[in-house]
Amino acid sequence: MSETSNTQAPLSPERPIDVIVMAAGKGTRMKSNLPKVLQRLAGKPLLSHVLGTASQLRARMAVVIIGHGASEVETAATQFAQALPVLGSAQMDCKFVRQEPQLGTGHAVQQAVPVLPDDGVVLVLSGDVPLTQAGSLQDLIACVSRPGQADSLALLTIESQDPTGYGRIVRSADGQQVLGIVEQKDANAQQLQIKEVYSGIMAAPARQFKTWLAKLDKNNAQGEYYLTDVVKWAVADGVQVVAHQIDDALQVTGINSPQHLAQLERAFQSQQAQDLMTQGVRLADPARFDLRGSLVCASDVEIDVNCVFEGHVSLGEGVRIGPHCVIANAQIEAGVVVQAFTHIDGEKAGVTIGQGASIGPFARLRPGAKLGAQVHIGNFVEIKNASLAQGAKANHLAYLGDATVGERVNFGAGSITANYDGANKHQTVIEADVHVGSNCVLVAPVTLGAGGTIGGGSTVTKDTAPGALTLARGKQTSLANWARPQKKSAPKS
Ligand code: UD1
Ligand code: MG
Repeated sequence: MSETSNTQAPLSPERPIDVIVMAAGKGTRMKSNLPKVLQRLAGKPLLSHVLGTASQLRARMAVVIIGHGASEVETAATQFAQALPVLGSAQMDCKFVRQEPQLGTGHAVQQAVPVLPDDGVVLVLSGDVPLTQAGSLQDLIACVSRPGQADSLALLTIESQDPTGYGRIVRSADGQQVLGIVEQKDANAQQLQIKEVYSGIMAAPARQFKTWLAKLDKNNAQGEYYLTDVVKWAVADGVQVVAHQIDDALQVTGINSPQHLAQLERAFQSQQAQDLMTQGVRLADPARFDLRGSLVCASDVEIDVNCVFEGHVSLGEGVRIGPHCVIANAQIEAGVVVQAFTHIDGEKAGVTIGQGASIGPFARLRPGAKLGAQVHIGNFVEIKNASLAQGAKANHLAYLGDATVGERVNFGAGSITANYDGANKHQTVIEADVHVGSNCVLVAPVTLGAGGTIGGGSTVTKDTAPGALTLARGKQTSLANWARPQKKSAPKS
């Protein structure tokens, strides 16, 4: 089994980690009513990615700094923080602190000071930088407290060919010591040439960090409290500043515009596609593949173009997914073939498809569809909250909702379970080996006895006996040699 998802193996820290997530900025360039940190990447809000990463670090606490759209962000973030898995001894405590007005990144982090314990390591993240990997952050945190050494301030940095807009890492003449970070707007011509830039992510010992934050001022080109100025105060205290450089720019890319969001989405999808192919999954075209959740694949899985996977999906050995399918929250067992344009969404109840079943093209499986081995579901068939036992078939234009369908049942074209009486939902039971003809309406609650046959066009309102033929439709009558009415000839004018 192999898995690709945007969650990773949990890591365990030695010292408590408290994460600050800056999420108060407006995100003007998104031109959206939705706060920037709630925009979605790979189907998940940006802030949810960041909180997910914080929880993988087994952070003791996440303090989210909110401002623009504060109540909307708080409501949404509370929900996804509650949905996070408990990885350590307890759920990560998620707190919200308001920053009004927004006077810069330093000012943002200052707002967290009253709720921040002194004994931890503080990790500062941005709510609009979604793809930082827990492993990189773990390495950064390890730079703060190295065995046998005094605590350091650790900066996550990256070498950039186009450093425009980023804070530059200023080093001593011999390049050994980090002396400060200078923002683009404050940099001189020589500093603008520096390619090593600050990612916006740092880790520091909490107690000392608080003393540096207290010293920030806004004597700079933008008149803001710069978080990056903590570096010079750490240097002044004789604290070593470690620049932990990574190569992978995706991990520190922030979102400022719809273009950024789309670019990062494609880059992330391409990475997920590569990971799956490395595991042996055969994607017809990695550029036309989207995973918004987690996908577990056994061997010899084939996925055709333009498929979207959401939530948690697992595909058994030899599963083939045709082009243009949307599959969410489903467990699909070995040998299943899902043909083109099929839509499967299990939502909370899930969808399960048994070995060797054949689904689609143009099928729709909704929550609670439980299909046994060798089941056939054909075009324009909808299944909701219904189980179909081994070998059952509904091949054309049908609806099965709130139903239990036995082995080898054949459900005819155009037939439906009428499960809803306008107020309540009712169950239909179709026992093994029943043959339901075309265009039948099964008015629930109703049970069709095993081995029975329902004649085409029947509206069945009462239970049927096993083995019986049931006809519930107008009797056919024919009038021999019937002359059709003729058009009257038009009167002459
Ligand atoms: C910051 C860094 C810069 C670094 C860059 C990386 C500072 C002064 N500069 O610059 O060195 O290279 O990130 O992307 O820190 N925010 C608040 N409240 C505020 C201001 C900002 O919560 O008052 C939040 C924003 O919503 C955003 C984050 O802080 O999530 C970063 O702010 P942004 O304005 O993008 O900082 P940069 O100017 O990019
Ligand atoms: Mg920025």
